Amino acid sequence: MGNDDGKHGHGHDHDHDHDHGHGHDRGHRHGQDPDFDWEAMALRLEGDATMVLPIVDDIVQSLSAQVEWATATHLLDLGCGPGIVTCALARHAPVAHVTALDSSVPLLARVRHHAAEAHLATRVHTVEADIETALPALRPMDVVWAGMVLHHLADPGEVLAGLLHALQPGGTLVMLEFAGAPAALPDDDPLAVDGTWARLEAATTAARNERLGLDPVTVDWAALLTGAGFTGITDTTMVAHHRAPLEATAREWLERHVRSGIEFVGDALSAADVAALTALAHQVSTRNDLFVSMERRVLTARRPIRGGDWEPPAE
Ligand SMILES: C[S@@+](CC[C@H](N)C(=O)[O-])C[C@H]1O[C@@H](n2cnc3c(N)ncnc32)[C@H](O)[C@@H]1O
Repeated sequence: MGNDDGKHGHGHDHDHDHDHGHGHDRGHRHGQDPDFDWEAMALRLEGDATMVLPIVDDIVQSLSAQVEWATATHLLDLGCGPGIVTCALARHAPVAHVTALDSSVPLLARVRHHAAEAHLATRVHTVEADIETALPALRPMDVVWAGMVLHHLADPGEVLAGLLHALQPGGTLVMLEFAGAPAALPDDDPLAVDGTWARLEAATTAARNERLGLDPVTVDWAALLTGAGFTGITDTTMVAHHRAPLEATAREWLERHVRSGIEFVGDALSAADVAALTALAHQVSTRNDLFVSMERRVLTARRPIRGGDWEPPAE
């Protein structure tokens, strides 16, 4: 987990469930930190994104009446992180050019690596930019995808207003945000019955909210979208359910989730809880009754077809 010193590290302000750092630092400020462990961060973000891919598939499917995935030409993955979702989007839109935008140079290198491995390098293009400073000039987008990024921003409403104009009229914005905590234990598991798991997740949520300086679950994202000029807003909670017995990737995610929880919020838990969770982490590779259920809040919205200031791009 890098060079951190427990819960009082130096600003791991990405959104892995157990990341931590200075509160109220929503941006992405590791550029000057030579010790920051990008590799570990990338692995955590890749694990989270991989577990959430069923939700990505469900969103794409649910938008099939309003997005022509087969013929879409330009997609923007805003705050793309290591590019797991970027590559999934490129597969769903087989002729589209996908712009993967992030402020993290090391994460953009991971995007290029994954895109090359998936034979998507000709269609996935990385752009380094801080969206709080300025959105670079891009071709009008069919879809802008903003996964787990808007809660990092000091003024998400202002960025959303900019994103409206990154879309072509009628284009679609997709937002993924935090919803409920993940679940993994059968109801009759002792750690579920005695509340150990719930205490782990409550401590994790509290640490996340402190780090972000807000509770992203309570933000009225739909109102922000309306205020930015979007229309046709949908707001739902979607679940990625990985059934027992878990396959290897989900087992790895769950073990890492429990271990990083102990590392990052263990101080907020009792010694008995930490011991029970440590035992659970040991059991994840062999138990066949564990599952993983991950929730995301999903909002979709469109740029109105009329009334915008869109002009066709110069050829
Ligand atoms: C939790 S990660 C989400 C990654 C990816 N969208 C996913 O869902 O797997 C948030 C990403 O937003 C990026 N980010 C945060 N603030 C940003 C900013 N102001 N400009 C550009 N990218 C930013 C971070 O570098 C990070 O890669």
